[in-house]
Amino acid sequence: MIQSFNKINKVKGVLKFQGDKSISHRVLLISSLADGKSVIKNLSMSDDVKSTIKCLNGLGIESSFKDNIYTISGRGLKGYRKPARQLDAGNSGTTARLLSGILAAQNFESVITGDASLSSRPMKRIIEPLNQLGAIIESNNGKLPLKIFPSKILQSIKYQLPVASAQVKSAVLLAGLHLDEKTSVVESVQTRNHTENLLGLSVVKEGDDIISSVSRSNYPVAKEYFIPGDISSAMFFIVLTLLTKNSELVIKDVSLNPTRTEFLKLLKRMGGSIQIEEKGSSNNEVYGDLLVKSSELSNVNISNEIIPLIIDEIPILTIAGSFAEGVFELRGASELRVKESDRIKAISLNLLKLGLGVVEFDDGFSVSGKIKQVSESFESFGDHRIAMAFSILSSLLKDGGKVEGFESVSVSNPDFLKQLKSISG
Ligand code: S3P
Repeated sequence: MIQSFNKINKVKGVLKFQGDKSISHRVLLISSLADGKSVIKNLSMSDDVKSTIKCLNGLGIESSFKDNIYTISGRGLKGYRKPARQLDAGNSGTTARLLSGILAAQNFESVITGDASLSSRPMKRIIEPLNQLGAIIESNNGKLPLKIFPSKILQSIKYQLPVASAQVKSAVLLAGLHLDEKTSVVESVQTRNHTENLLGLSVVKEGDDIISSVSRSNYPVAKEYFIPGDISSAMFFIVLTLLTKNSELVIKDVSLNPTRTEFLKLLKRMGGSIQIEEKGSSNNEVYGDLLVKSSELSNVNISNEIIPLIIDEIPILTIAGSFAEGVFELRGASELRVKESDRIKAISLNLLKLGLGVVEFDDGFSVSGKIKQVSESFESFGDHRIAMAFSILSSLLKDGGKVEGFESVSVSNPDFLKQLKSISG
């Protein structure tokens, strides 16, 4: 589907977002393991989170949705039913990787599949540590489908993450949750920490290492959750507001987890006017309100250590960087090549259409020059964050623009278009 956008002359209003996608997946998985009913407020209803719900249904987990409240009945330790069919994770890497960790500790065989994009993404990164735990997993050359055999005896491990990935960390921790002995994951670069927060895990710093540990003593109980709004979805509107003249946007009850707000700090360093007010927390996940105002942005140095903390925001960061003063340069981000699309390629090809100077590197790109204000058609490459980034870019161009494959936005934010219309002056 092709979606057209006219230039937005002014942004004004208040936005609230469905629950953060990363937290929503984890709350569902953790609640499904607990014994009894958990009640979830503001669960994400994105396609990715629906994939987690569908997989859990296949494992005998029942749930219902009424008056904006999601109720899920967990089946307790080793309570999942053997699935009658393959579990389809759709486009969702978080579903496939985190669920693999849990399934590696169950007493039945299961198979995880996904769509074409997910089936091309690397799964060796979770198979290797789960093998070390003693799990037996068959794959298609390190890719989906994964066949996970019934667990024999798993042994706890201390695992140093070879790649900065919260999904790999979480897969190991969720498997380790089933063992008496302590399993630890060591990361030298911080990644998002929702699994640790929601399970209340011990996390210690030793020099540059961050060590998160888990055992069955951390096994969850059924409870109530409020899921803060999705900060990654909010970032698209924050950049639009900063780059549009005479604009002001309030964002309510959004996640302010420090492993997710690095992009806000970066935008502030670039000259962005963003006020942050922390309001509360639920199950160790902090949230609050933002006030964003039009600003003049300048490009700044982006250090390698923050890349894992802004990884999902890089498509929209690049749009901000293309309008900002100076040359935009990003390195150390080769993980972008194995996201829902090859995001380095997708961003470079789209920006080239605007007459910008784009140099592609293995691990990033640089963007220089001024955008020619022409109407353009951008390609989403079936990737929700590319679609949203170039929808925002189109809304900033004098003559507007078009995004092909726009429908992929529902992977993380089905409300995107409605929200964009509601704040356009
Ligand atoms: C996620 C972790 C990140 C991120 C993805 C969600 C998570 O992936 O890009 O959108 O919920 O754990 P990696 O773990 O592959 O970096």
